Amino acid sequence: MGGSFLPASYAAAAAALLLLSACGPEPSTGSSVVAAEDDAATPVPSEASSSLPRPELHPGMPGLLNDAELEALRQAREGGLRDIAGLPDFGFGETASPERIAAWDIDIGPDGEGLPPGSGSVERGETLYRLQCVQCHGARGEGSQFEALAGRVPGDRFPFSEDRRYPITVGSYWPYATTLFDYIRRAMPQAAPGSLPPDDVYALTAFILQLNGLLESGDSLDAESLPRIRMPARDRFVRDDRRGGPEVR
Ligand code: HEC
Repeated sequence: MGGSFLPASYAAAAAALLLLSACGPEPSTGSSVVAAEDDAATPVPSEASSSLPRPELHPGMPGLLNDAELEALRQAREGGLRDIAGLPDFGFGETASPERIAAWDIDIGPDGEGLPPGSGSVERGETLYRLQCVQCHGARGEGSQFEALAGRVPGDRFPFSEDRRYPITVGSYWPYATTLFDYIRRAMPQAAPGSLPPDDVYALTAFILQLNGLLESGDSLDAESLPRIRMPARDRFVRDDRRGGPEVR
């Protein structure tokens, strides 16, 4: 899989918006020439360099956008780039096919939205874990080379801001069990992310939840049962609804 799966117009819009942001909220009025003359630090082009041919710009590139195109970009940016239908064609990138988009569209919501069919047992998860995870996360998820996956704070307290020595684990900190499926599927094992089929991910998720005392050893998980697991830290987070201002650091 390569890195250029963005729809053409999206990639172009993102690039153009970067340039737009650099120009400030208002479109450039052609003042860059004046600024260059005023700025003593700007090197004055020599005879030789000014006679070099100018690179050819695609007609849609920023600086050559007309007012309607600038307005379309500004609106798309305000809308969080969700609606890009009216944007001009910048002449680079390629349109992503539905299959390519689907391959990246694998996020799982807290309520289980997006979970694929399949299932896996704690028992099978333990076998898979021994084969593919144990060397980095320890036999019982206690951590070895890399982070611990198991462990609860007594009483399921949440003292992480008071004492940073408490281990942050799936069982002590994660508010949603579905995140575990999402994370393992997209990121683990570290050397082969994305390689595990859904049944294996359900099984590994089940085993890690069992290590955290949230499932029994005879249990299995699927798209129905996983979202029903209530994580100990579920109510420990608040939605951040701040919209800027001095309190946002
Ligand atoms: C080569 C070492 C390695 C292997 C093998 C590996 N992991 Fe990881 N794992 C990591 C590292 C490193 C991180 C932390 C990544 C980060 O924070 O960006 C991590 C993070 C995680 C986390 C998130 C922990 C947290 O609290 O943030 C989970 C869950 C996890 N791994 C599960 C697995 C599972 C399941 C397997 C086996 C299929 C596996 N890992 C195999 C190295 C590994």
